[in-house]
Amino acid sequence: MSISEADQPDRVTIRAYPNGPLLVRGPVELRDEHGEPIDSARATIALCRCGRSSIKPLCDGTHAINRKRKQ
Ligand code: FES
Repeated sequence: MSISEADQPDRVTIRAYPNGPLLVRGPVELRDEHGEPIDSARATIALCRCGRSSIKPLCDGTHAINRKRKQ
């Protein structure tokens, strides 16, 4: 029996979204390259892994646009 992410709110989980961002759930503090906190009031943070987001390190959905163009 597996334990769902919702059953463990204090645990951090990182899940790779197919052809998209890394979804981070749980109590994390995100910091920029200078160590400054990045404000994110969301319960789930999407980290860009395609390198095309205009709001790095967060995903802005650009990965989906590029995927549609290739189809
Ligand atoms: S993964 Fe979404 S913009 Fe890069």
